[in-house]
Amino acid sequence: MVWTLALPLLADTLSGDPAEPPTETSAEIAQREYEEVLALTPDAERGREVYLTCAVCHLPEGWGSVDGSYPQIAGQLPTVIIKQLADFRAGNRENPLMYPFSVPGILGGPQEIADVAAYVSQLPMTAENGLGPGSDLEAGEALYIEHCTDCHGAAGEGDEAEHIPMIAGQHFAYLMRQFDAIRSGERKNADSKMTEEIQDLTQAEQVALLDYTARLRPAAGKLAQEGWLNPDFPHYLRDAMGLRVKPPAGLKSVPVSE
Ligand code: HEC
Ligand code: HEC
Repeated sequence: MVWTLALPLLADTLSGDPAEPPTETSAEIAQREYEEVLALTPDAERGREVYLTCAVCHLPEGWGSVDGSYPQIAGQLPTVIIKQLADFRAGNRENPLMYPFSVPGILGGPQEIADVAAYVSQLPMTAENGLGPGSDLEAGEALYIEHCTDCHGAAGEGDEAEHIPMIAGQHFAYLMRQFDAIRSGERKNADSKMTEEIQDLTQAEQVALLDYTARLRPAAGKLAQEGWLNPDFPHYLRDAMGLRVKPPAGLKSVPVSE
């Protein structure tokens, strides 16, 4: 043990090279894992088991919260889910709530990422996502067509091959928060062309644009029937004796859409 550790060190010392600093960036580490996951065959049934830990925050339905503290992840493209999970755990996207649940000891390895992404992506989406004020939708549409269609698609459907997120039907407040984080550079994994594209928008334009985006409807086949609750989690405690389960300390309360 001692020797296996000491020999390479000794070799370095003798050759006179300074210790090599780690050269792989968080983006490169995430990219490597992303490719590793894509080479695997996903098992959505096993993904359901993995999803049990995620449901605490993302709810069994994966619908997130209207106030934007949690995104709607149901129905998201599998490559996007995989990319985001790989990014969170490599430190290429930072969030103190999401990070601890992305690490290998909790989430698992590349196979578990593949499995949970397959499971989440087939969950039907809520049509009752949070929307903006609705006062400037024509301007929002024009801005969307000018700045966003090329990458995110005319219907906000995203692009599976290029891991561009579906943004149709996402909560308005979440879109606003991510947009701010992307524009300011706070969100590390942002697409640099997108960051450039949105630099000159005013606050009013951003509101109009993202209000329009939140109102883009996902394909009808992706939406849940009214009143649908995820039957995979029949014993999930939604509202015990009229009292919501308290979120762990540090979490904002999550209004559940009913
Ligand atoms: C403790 C609460 C919590 C748990 C548990 C949790 N997440 Fe998250 N997750 C979040 C929050 C908060 C965000 C939004 C992060 C941000 O604002 O940047 C998020 C974001 C995400 C995103 C990015 C969505 C997007 O469109 O940007 C994915 C994908 C995701 N979570 C999947 C999962 C999966 C899969 C699990 C289970 C392995 C999980 N999460 C467990 C809180 C949680
Ligand atoms: C050059 C291509 C490109 C353009 C143009 C672009 N985006 Fe993006 N966008 C991306 C990519 C790629 C990502 C995902 C980056 C990552 O996390 O890997 C993204 C992420 C996002 C996210 C975060 C989604 C999530 O689930 O976390 C939002 C919101 C978004 N874009 C909205 C927009 C809007 C609105 C426009 C038009 C003003 C726009 N984008 C223009 C490529 C683009």
